[in-house]
Amino acid sequence: MKKTFERRALLAHLSRSAAALALCSLFGSSPGQRPVPTPLAPRFDNYPFTLGVASGMPRPASVVLWTRLAPRPLDQGGGLPPRPLVVRWELADDENFGRLVTSGEQLALPEHGHSVHVQVEGLESGRMFFYRFLCGDAVSPIGRTRTAPAEDAPVQRLRFALASCQHYEQGHYAAHREIASRDLDFVLFVGDYIYESSHPSFMVRRHEGPPPTRLEAFRRRHATYKLDHDLRAAHAAHPWILTWDDHEVENDYAGEHSRFGGDPQHFLRRRAAAYKAYFEHLPIAPERAPVGPAMRIHDRYSWGRLAELWTLDGRQYRSPQACPEDGPVRGGRVLTDCAAMAEVGRSVFGTEQEQWLESGLHTSTRTWKLLAQASQLSSWGVDTPLGRSVYSDAWDGYPAARERLLRGMADAGLRDVIALGGDVHRHVAAQLRLASNDPASPIVASEFVTSSITSRGLPGVATALIRAANPDLLHARGDERGYAMIDLRPQQARCEFRATAFPVAEQARLHTQAAFVVESGRAGVQRDV
Ligand SMILES: [Fe+2]
Repeated sequence: MKKTFERRALLAHLSRSAAALALCSLFGSSPGQRPVPTPLAPRFDNYPFTLGVASGMPRPASVVLWTRLAPRPLDQGGGLPPRPLVVRWELADDENFGRLVTSGEQLALPEHGHSVHVQVEGLESGRMFFYRFLCGDAVSPIGRTRTAPAEDAPVQRLRFALASCQHYEQGHYAAHREIASRDLDFVLFVGDYIYESSHPSFMVRRHEGPPPTRLEAFRRRHATYKLDHDLRAAHAAHPWILTWDDHEVENDYAGEHSRFGGDPQHFLRRRAAAYKAYFEHLPIAPERAPVGPAMRIHDRYSWGRLAELWTLDGRQYRSPQACPEDGPVRGGRVLTDCAAMAEVGRSVFGTEQEQWLESGLHTSTRTWKLLAQASQLSSWGVDTPLGRSVYSDAWDGYPAARERLLRGMADAGLRDVIALGGDVHRHVAAQLRLASNDPASPIVASEFVTSSITSRGLPGVATALIRAANPDLLHARGDERGYAMIDLRPQQARCEFRATAFPVAEQARLHTQAAFVVESGRAGVQRDV
C-alpha cells in the first residue's frame, strides 16, 4: 500500500542523482572534500521543525500531512544546505505512538524549501489520528488530525472554525489560541493567510522585510507567520481546509493583472513565486503543487450526508476590476457610477469554475451546501446623493456574476445553501436575495462572514452607514477581531461570532458577539435567542 509505494518511490529517487547528494554529509562536505556517508541520520545543530506541523484536506480515507524543515527559518534555504533529506512520518491511534497505523519516508527537497507533503491513503473514515515527523536525531511536535466521515454516513454534527485575514503586524493570534483549544472537525480558512504589505497604523510587531516579490522572500514571509506559537498550535490541533484571497500574492490582484498594471508576464512571475511559497507552507496535496503561475486551490469536500463544501478561488481566474483609475495604481476603489461593472461576461470565479460549482451544487443531495470563498457575497454598498457607491473589488463590483450564482440556486429550488466568507474584517450575518435589500425579492440563501483574526476593520461610522443602507445585513460589526464557530446539525445550522476588541493583547480572551441560526429547508438567517 502507500508505505510500500513511497519506499519504492524513495529508492527510485535516491538511485538517481539525488543519491549522490544524499550520500554527502549534511553539513560537512563541500566540493573537493571527501563525502561522509551520514545523510540518512543527520544531527542538527538547530531544531529543524521550527515551523511546526499541519494536516489538511480531510477525506473519508485520506488526509494530507505537512511539515517543512528549517533550522533557521529566516535564513536562505531555511538554514539548510541545498541537499535532500530523508524524513520519516508516522500516523498513530494514540499520541504516544504506541499503536502505529501507518508510516513512510519521503524526501524533503531543497527545490521545495525542504517542505514535506504526504498524502496518507487507505485510512478509516471519521476517525482521529496523531502524526509526527522524524529526521535524523530530530522529532517534530505531534499533530492531531481526522478523516472525514464516509460519503453516505448519517452524520449528526459538524463543527468547524471559519477564519481569515491574519495580518501579523496588526495583532496577536488569541483567536488561534482559542481555535486550538476547541473540539473541532476542521478549520476553514478563507484567505489572507499572509499579508504581503504593511500598514503603518496598529503595528504591534513587524514583518521580517519589505513586500516579497521572489520565492525566497515569500518563504521568509510565510516562515514569519508560522513562527507564531498560536498559529502553529491551531494547525497542530486540527486539519485545515483552505482557499486564498489576494494578499497571499498582492493586494487586489485579478487573474494575471497586478494592481500596479504593467506586463502580465512580469506579474505572473510574482504570482508563481507566491503560489509556490503558499504550497510549500500549507497542508495541500502534493498533486496540487503549482505549475508555474497556475495552482488549483478550488475543491469539494463532503461530511457524510450532512454537508458538502466547495472551496472557491476568487482570484486566479477573476476579471479585472471595472472602471480602474487613470493612474499607476489600479485595483479596487469606491465607485458610484460605472456601467462597465454590470457587463455580463465579467466573472469572479471564471467560467470553468462557475460551471463546475453550478453542476455540483445543483446535483448535491446533502443537507447543507456550503460555499467557502474569500469575500462578502451580500451587498454592502452605501446610498449617497450621487447614487449607490460600491467597492469595485468586492462582489458588488461583479453584479452579473453574483446574480448568475444566486439565480442558479433559485432556479434549482435550493434552500440550504450557506455562503461563508471573510476579507471584509467584520462579522456579518446576511440574507441573500435575488435583488439585494428588496423585501419583495425571495431569500435564496444565507450568509455568514467572519471578522479577521487580526486585520483592522472599517471605522465604526462606515460600518454604521453600511448597515443603514443594507437591511439584508442582520448583523455587521467591524470593531472586533475573531472567528466564526459554525455548528451544523441536520435540522439547524448555527453560527457563533467569537470576538475580541483587543487583538493587540497576547492574552486576550474572546467572547460571543452574536449568534445566528438557519433552519433546514428555509433559506435565511435568524438571530439566535
Ligand atoms: Fe484581509
